[in-house]
Amino acid sequence: MITKNVRKSVDIISHSNNQLKENENAERYLNEATKSILNSMQDGIYITDKDGYTLFINDAYLRISGLKKEQIIGKHMIDLISHGYFKDSASLKALRENKPMSIIDYFDGGRRCLATSSPVYDKKGNILLIITNLRYMTELYDLQAKLEMTEELNNKYSCEINELRKENINRDNIIGNSKSMKLVYETIERISEVDTTVLILGETGVGKEVIAKEIHKRSLRNNGPFIKVNCASIPDTLFESELFGYEKGAFTGAMSNGKPGLFELADQGTILLDEIGEVSLASQTKLLRVLQEKQIMRLGGTTSKNIDVRIIAATNKDLKALVEEGKFREDLYYRLNVVPLTIPPLRERNEDIVFFAFHFLEEFNLKYKKNKSLNYKAYEVLKSYYWSGNVRQLKNLIERIVLICPTEIIDEIYINSILGNGNLINNYTLDDNITLEQAVSNLEKQLIYKALRSYRSTRKAAEALGVSQPTIVRKANKYNIKS
Ligand SMILES: Nc1ncnc2c1ncn2[C@@H]1O[C@H](COP(=O)(O)OP(=O)(O)OP(=O)(O)O)[C@@H](O)[C@H]1O
Ligand SMILES: [Mg+2]
Repeated sequence: MITKNVRKSVDIISHSNNQLKENENAERYLNEATKSILNSMQDGIYITDKDGYTLFINDAYLRISGLKKEQIIGKHMIDLISHGYFKDSASLKALRENKPMSIIDYFDGGRRCLATSSPVYDKKGNILLIITNLRYMTELYDLQAKLEMTEELNNKYSCEINELRKENINRDNIIGNSKSMKLVYETIERISEVDTTVLILGETGVGKEVIAKEIHKRSLRNNGPFIKVNCASIPDTLFESELFGYEKGAFTGAMSNGKPGLFELADQGTILLDEIGEVSLASQTKLLRVLQEKQIMRLGGTTSKNIDVRIIAATNKDLKALVEEGKFREDLYYRLNVVPLTIPPLRERNEDIVFFAFHFLEEFNLKYKKNKSLNYKAYEVLKSYYWSGNVRQLKNLIERIVLICPTEIIDEIYINSILGNGNLINNYTLDDNITLEQAVSNLEKQLIYKALRSYRSTRKAAEALGVSQPTIVRKANKYNIKS
């Protein structure tokens, strides 16, 4: 019995001895593992006991500080400071203050580090250790500098994007990089924010309406309405009621409640008096009164109403010539011609043609789900064509070829055939609202333009067309063809 009990107690003792050994092993293993973890860290780690004696310093700390383990381990922080290894000690501060403390530490070679010491407590709340984390500030500074640089770049890019976006919003689908169009854009820029009246001149299809809208869009009135009045399509008898409105019962057939006119609708915004050259002399007088007084009176009304409208007029007619012929009131002409803006015809800015063609090709490819493209020579043909219908004609042509060209790549032969080059009669149909005289004169204009463009001399052009040199010069002047 005794032996049994003794054996039992021996067993227990040997078990607890084994357990102890295992625990020691585990602790040693844990110690080693912890040390490896701490040594693999990029930040420096420094551990002191509750009195400020150094227990541990990891590899990163040694690397950053340039100190040696033997100089440090087991030493008190105060001794280390007095030996000049440290200039200050966050560990001592954390011990003293009983809370995490940070300092900036400097090591040899001017290395700046941020040291943050935090107390570690036992279960009773007494300080056990002080663990200090050391971070190499130069790296932080580098990162911060990089961040600042990136932020600066970001800022710059976002400003650029904003500018581009603004350009995009403002210029919308406006194409034109030629010198003459840049001058137009510059003028637009200068006049957009002032309320001056603008007279836009230019052949048919050059983009007068596009420019008028652009002026409105860039003006301070861009939240107000943009009203386009096609003066040519309003019968003279309805001109007054359409533009200035009417009161109820003003005339038979009038709406029972009366109707505001286009000027009233354009209040706080812009009105485009398009085709102003088509307005009769009688209507011109009524228009002049409104422009002078900035007031309208509805037809059949008794009181005037102030209107706040910016006026833009546009025409493809030579208004000055109409004034000289007595077909346009001179006073109205001067009232409208405050800032004249002449949009050059497409043939005088043929560097824009490629941009237009490309732009319209994209537009119609998208619209008709096609993937057509032009070859280099096709662009050349477009550039050398006499665009009597200007941008509109080019736009229509591109729409037509996107729809009907059987091949994906459109070449110069196809373009020539569509343009009727070599067979100019194809340019006209009997439905076109054009007289024989106008057609002949268009043809003459195109031939002279082509000859001058190809031969670059009036003498050679005259020879090619079988006419005298003075005839070429006279006709070139007549058609405003610049050499
Ligand atoms: N700068 C431009 N950018 C983009 N499209 C343009 C430009 N100029 C003209 N267009 C296009 O060309 C066509 C004709 O333009 P617009 O109607 O403004 O010409 P217009 O000078 O007013 O012609 P008209 O004298 O016959 O009234 C329109 O389809 C327009 O979208
Ligand atoms: Mg127009």
